[in-house]
Amino acid sequence: MKAIILISGNGSNLQSIIDSADRIDLQISCVISNNKNAFGLKRAVSSKIQTSIINPELFNSKEAFDRELISIIDHHEVELIVLAGYMRILTPLFVSHYFGKILNIHPSLLPKFPGLNTHQKAIDASEKIHGASVHFVTEEIDGGPIISQEKVIIEAEDTVETLSDKVLKKEHVIFPKVIHWYTQRRLKLITNLQATLDGKKI
Ligand code: GRF
Repeated sequence: MKAIILISGNGSNLQSIIDSADRIDLQISCVISNNKNAFGLKRAVSSKIQTSIINPELFNSKEAFDRELISIIDHHEVELIVLAGYMRILTPLFVSHYFGKILNIHPSLLPKFPGLNTHQKAIDASEKIHGASVHFVTEEIDGGPIISQEKVIIEAEDTVETLSDKVLKKEHVIFPKVIHWYTQRRLKLITNLQATLDGKKI
């Protein structure tokens, strides 16, 4: 299955997807970044994957930016859009255009800690368990149906950095796993609140 991957930064999740692409039946048509300095772009180039950069400063609205993004993505005729550390909020225009075709990974056990700085929030809230979630993207930020989660234990000595490392290790396993379910056509977004795996509600 052909996919586009959107990134903004380091791209360690992108790397884990590139490394498992054959096994999970994924063909990465293009990696698109809103940040020209994203290290993930170098990872894509090293793997001979086409890249595209869209500079947000050249657009006078979020909609105009997303219209450009849509035109690039549609050109590639993909069935899946993977958000792998893409740090821009998608407009309703974008999300409705690709209803049921966008997957995101988020570094918390959603619905706990949507948004940014999730590891700090988990530490501040004295959580004992933290983790990562993969979910379908809907208009509600980090609010679409959760598909799969992986947990880590927060130890007393954990810092944002150590916790982030632990969670990222889980992310690199869970995201390719869920993408594989998608490429096998086992996953479907039914409504903004409901998804199915193998026809059963999740
Ligand atoms: C990950 O923690 C992901 O869950 C979040 O952004 C981070 C991206 O890391 N959405 P990387 O760029 O994949 O290394």
